[in-house]
Amino acid sequence: MSLTNAPDPAFRQAVVRQDLDNVLHPIVQHSVLEAKQTVVTAAQGSTIYDADGTSYLDAMAGLWCVNIGYGRTELADVAAEQMRQLAYYPHSSMNVPAAALAESINGLMGGGYHTYFVNSGSEANEAGFKIARQYMKHEYPGQYRFKTISRYFSYHGTTLATLDAGGMGERKAKFEPFSGDFVHIAHPHCYRCPFGLTYPSCNLACVKNLETTILGEGPETVATVLVEPIMSGVGVSVPPDEYLPEVEKLCRKYDILLHVDEVINGFGRTGKMFAHQHYNVSPDIIAIAKGISSAYLPIAATVVKNSVFQSFVGEASENRQVGQVNTYGGHPVASAVAVRNIEILQQENLADRAAEMGAYLIDGLRTLMKHKVVGEVRGKGLLVGIELVKDRVTKEPVSPAQIGAVVEFCKDNGLLVGRSNGGRRYGGVITMSPPLVITRAECDQIVETLDRALSTLDFT
Ligand SMILES: Cc1ncc(COP(=O)(O)O)c(C=O)c1O
Repeated sequence: MSLTNAPDPAFRQAVVRQDLDNVLHPIVQHSVLEAKQTVVTAAQGSTIYDADGTSYLDAMAGLWCVNIGYGRTELADVAAEQMRQLAYYPHSSMNVPAAALAESINGLMGGGYHTYFVNSGSEANEAGFKIARQYMKHEYPGQYRFKTISRYFSYHGTTLATLDAGGMGERKAKFEPFSGDFVHIAHPHCYRCPFGLTYPSCNLACVKNLETTILGEGPETVATVLVEPIMSGVGVSVPPDEYLPEVEKLCRKYDILLHVDEVINGFGRTGKMFAHQHYNVSPDIIAIAKGISSAYLPIAATVVKNSVFQSFVGEASENRQVGQVNTYGGHPVASAVAVRNIEILQQENLADRAAEMGAYLIDGLRTLMKHKVVGEVRGKGLLVGIELVKDRVTKEPVSPAQIGAVVEFCKDNGLLVGRSNGGRRYGGVITMSPPLVITRAECDQIVETLDRALSTLDFT
């Protein structure tokens, strides 16, 4: 269906019926979809179109992922051409697009990295855990370094291990028990400091908490520290500038690998190609996904520093090679699309554009502080959150129903925004992560629609 096709209610209704009768949807209750649904049939730039002809400004870029925006038909041409040439072959061999993509990623990282390809952000983190464990077996043969230390209220994926690494009790509860290989520390979230302190007089209690945990667990049992540089799950939280460098120092002090999750943060989202590059750190393991192909095809990767890579190099008889394979890793078609996607990000300077438009959007959103319900507007680049509170002094969050009402109001008025997933305490944030091609006029539309929502809805 093209963007200009006339709405076809009968066709739409048939798709809704076919879907409800056959699909098991993720994370949404079917009765909700029965009552109201979106049947997305086309998209262009930052706008998606429903089969009923309604258009929506997608301020979440799907699931934080369509960085170059929708409707880049040249990526379809790249995919078709590659599919004609070589649709698939396992990555225990080499292929042309995956080699080019790994070289491109190495360049974006500033050199010194090798890339292991997978299909999703979850797998990228999961492979990171496994590569770290195998590395530790090679490098510390007498020790048993297997634990990952991660942060409460983080999200790192949907597999059992990545869910365990994440720190959202409500998301985990249905799937307990977990292995216990993941240890959690308090997250750096200054608006709601877990220690009740204020930056900078806090002296980074959150980093001290990490060192206490490393010592308490025993450094010789810890393989990695896992952090998302700018936390998305908790409603977008930008840590103090010293946080990540201090975490890195502790990793070096105790011979622990620093594993950084750039699944959302990466590929220009925060105003640099990767968020860790704001902080001048040099991670050992980097999980990338989403923006790597702007979600035009599923592909992701675990990028490892050459010092880690070297540990996997040896004679075939030594059995040091990476001990896993996945069918679609290094898929030539997805890789070719990702290569072109990265070229577009670079040619159009979309990381710089994210910095510029992000600053513009955040400035606009700060005008909404005139509404008493806005507790804080925060973000970096085009990764933005607005925290809604019943009272600015107590910071009591608005209720889940109230935050839901804001999302619904926006949708009814042609704007798609997200909401944080942090339970009762952290669930009061409207999130935004639009395509990096978003225009000033579209940023104005976001501010204007939220302004109307906050004026109209009842937050008492
Ligand atoms: C920070 C972060 N890490 C990992 C993942 C998992 O990625 P995927 O859904 O592609 O498995 C997500 C998904 O949203 C994420 O936000």
